[in-house]
Amino acid sequence: MKIYLAPLQGYTEFLFRNSYLNHFKGLDLAIAPFIPSGIGDHVRHHRIKDLWKEHNRLLEIEPQILGKSAAEIIPIANYLYAYGYDTININMGCPIASIRAKYRGAGILAYPEMVEMLLEKLFIDLPNQISLKIRLGNESVEDIYQLIPVINHFPIKELIIHPRIGTQMYEGEVDLKTFEWCVEHAKAPLVYSGDLFDLNTYRNLQARFPTIDRWMIGRGLLFSPFLPEIIKRNDISWVEKEIHRFWDFYFELEDQVLTYRERPKNQLNKLKEYWRYFSQAFEDAEKMFFAISRTTNFSEYKTEIERIRDVGIWRAGLNEKESFQFIKTI
Ligand SMILES: Cc1cc2nc3c(=O)[nH]c(=O)nc-3n(C[C@H](O)[C@H](O)[C@H](O)COP(=O)(O)O)c2cc1C
Repeated sequence: MKIYLAPLQGYTEFLFRNSYLNHFKGLDLAIAPFIPSGIGDHVRHHRIKDLWKEHNRLLEIEPQILGKSAAEIIPIANYLYAYGYDTININMGCPIASIRAKYRGAGILAYPEMVEMLLEKLFIDLPNQISLKIRLGNESVEDIYQLIPVINHFPIKELIIHPRIGTQMYEGEVDLKTFEWCVEHAKAPLVYSGDLFDLNTYRNLQARFPTIDRWMIGRGLLFSPFLPEIIKRNDISWVEKEIHRFWDFYFELEDQVLTYRERPKNQLNKLKEYWRYFSQAFEDAEKMFFAISRTTNFSEYKTEIERIRDVGIWRAGLNEKESFQFIKTI
């Protein structure tokens, strides 16, 4: 079984990945957050900073590109291939309305003929292997019934499916019944992505989809960085004795953010954003996040974080889905 780190734009870039990988095991691959593409783009090396080899020594990563046409995608894909990335992932799942309106992200899913034209050109013109990350549709789950037959024409390396539609954003339940249809009909190796927040959910999904052996975790890893290891060990009982690893990881991440982000306001905002998720691991998550988000400078922020470290209670039931108090996460 393999576990992949989901791309979470603004969160799982290399600063996070490296801090994480110095303290946690369990991941087999990370898909990097998307690089936007556009016609006539000039690719500069700085633009792929997140993918620089020197930033990615600890784990295999796969770059992701967001674009609607071969003309947009090919220059950056070629650049990445020349730089050493054999595989590219195409983002066909981004739910942001302004992106979908331009036929990008999940927007393209309503147009299977566009997907077919795009893949045809990419497979002819690019040396890279291609993986896709999709949802079940743009505005309707009906899209998937047209899409899978189209996708089946191509030698896709992996097909990652987040079983929601674009207009859902991250709300509502994942649609496992339709995912089941995908499992029955898709030819490419499938990766499951969506709401994998705890060991029980993993066990249930694994029992329902015994042929799936690649699992992607996004927000669940921010809620509890221990989750990939919990799943691989099939045991949660050891976590409480190892909470110090969370703090070692957190303080390294903090250090990295302070080193790489120059403006104090940016540093503070970035760190606060992480706590939107990290706070979930503690009792009184909502109150805690509120207190952190009200701090106005780094010294106030640091006092709050140290208070949590000293008196915060890691939730015994963490990684049991019912125990998450969802703060609006995006
Ligand atoms: C803040 C945020 C940023 C995301 N950025 C990306 C992205 O860059 N590319 C992508 O394919 N999916 C992106 N996603 C979707 C996730 O990769 C994932 O498919 C989705 O969150 C469901 O998985 P989860 O419940 O494990 O988080 C993002 C999701 C969130 C919440």
